[in-house]
Amino acid sequence: MSADRPQPRPGVLDIDPYVPGKSAAPGVARVFKLSSNETPLGPSPKAVAAYRAVADHLQDYPDGSATALREAIGRAFGLDPGRIICGAGSDDLLNLIADAYLRDGDEAIHTTHGFLVYPIATLGSGAKPVVAPEKHYTADVDAILAKVSARTKVVFLANPNNPTGTYVPFDEVKRLHKGLPPHVLLVLDAAYAEYVRRNDYEAGIELVATSENVVMCRTFSKIYGLAALRLGWLYGPAHVVDAINRIRGPFNVNSAAIAAGVAAIGDTAHIETARQHNETWLAWLTREIRKLGLEVTPSIANFVLIHFPEAKGRTAEDADAFLTKRRLILRRVKAYRLPNALRMSIGSEEANKLVVAALAEFLGKKT
Ligand SMILES: Cc1ncc(COP(=O)(O)O)c(C=O)c1O
Repeated sequence: MSADRPQPRPGVLDIDPYVPGKSAAPGVARVFKLSSNETPLGPSPKAVAAYRAVADHLQDYPDGSATALREAIGRAFGLDPGRIICGAGSDDLLNLIADAYLRDGDEAIHTTHGFLVYPIATLGSGAKPVVAPEKHYTADVDAILAKVSARTKVVFLANPNNPTGTYVPFDEVKRLHKGLPPHVLLVLDAAYAEYVRRNDYEAGIELVATSENVVMCRTFSKIYGLAALRLGWLYGPAHVVDAINRIRGPFNVNSAAIAAGVAAIGDTAHIETARQHNETWLAWLTREIRKLGLEVTPSIANFVLIHFPEAKGRTAEDADAFLTKRRLILRRVKAYRLPNALRMSIGSEEANKLVVAALAEFLGKKT
């Protein structure tokens, strides 16, 4: 590489760019997109109305501190708005965390099949991603603790994890926190928390409230159905909030996202409907796909990870091609070290039934 032109910092060119889930199939007008864990129910109509109303004020800068939204989140979750930061998606917040807490020579730990933004944000900050092995496609607290070194500054844990859908019970998360040196920041990424119905699960609010080195990230992209607007938030200790507020873009969240977010979080009936839809179809899909003889990793989120046989003509790649031809777009997860699996977002009743029928046909089974 020529030294007489600008060079990005070490690590940047080691990043494999994030490739989003496919959203189209060749020659097909309408597809069933089940590749990005979006909600099949769409956003609350109240959020759409709030979004539209912003059109009358496009000349005005947004409120740079997103006060109305932080207050709405605070009310919904019983949190101090002063300890909330909103971001342009939780991706924005994960990158800000890496920016603020990682630099050359540092290490950040994530797990084998952890969310891909963690190594991207880590490398982008010049630090080194360290991978802790999982057990049964699930983060393993002992394996994470075994990877902690004098250089570790951040531990990223998606809970539930994407793309596996598995989770770490709260007692185990607390044990992880206890085992970390106090200068290591534990990032609990709870993007799918709203979908979880398990007594032993907690997104992390209590741990953030009672410690100095835990932050929790959340998103409006999933159950709230606002992925297009890019909106996420974090809850953290006052000193972390202070540090991140110093480096975030002064208007990192736009007015339409703020307005839609306030309306979405207030529409508890819509959220509950989405949760119930997910509960019904998550169980149905898991059962029906297993009946076809495919392994499905137990998920508590809004997607399932489906494993395919190694046999020629039956692999994940073959299934992906077969389904795509039938307008059914699932997610290849090779980049997540899962070369022979597909991730399927829980879709509408129509989409879910079409996938099961198509998989049966793919496998040569009768339905
Ligand atoms: C675990 C996890 N964290 C964060 C995100 C990013 O969400 P956002 O749309 O808020 O950037 C995703 C999106 O798929 C995710 O799966």
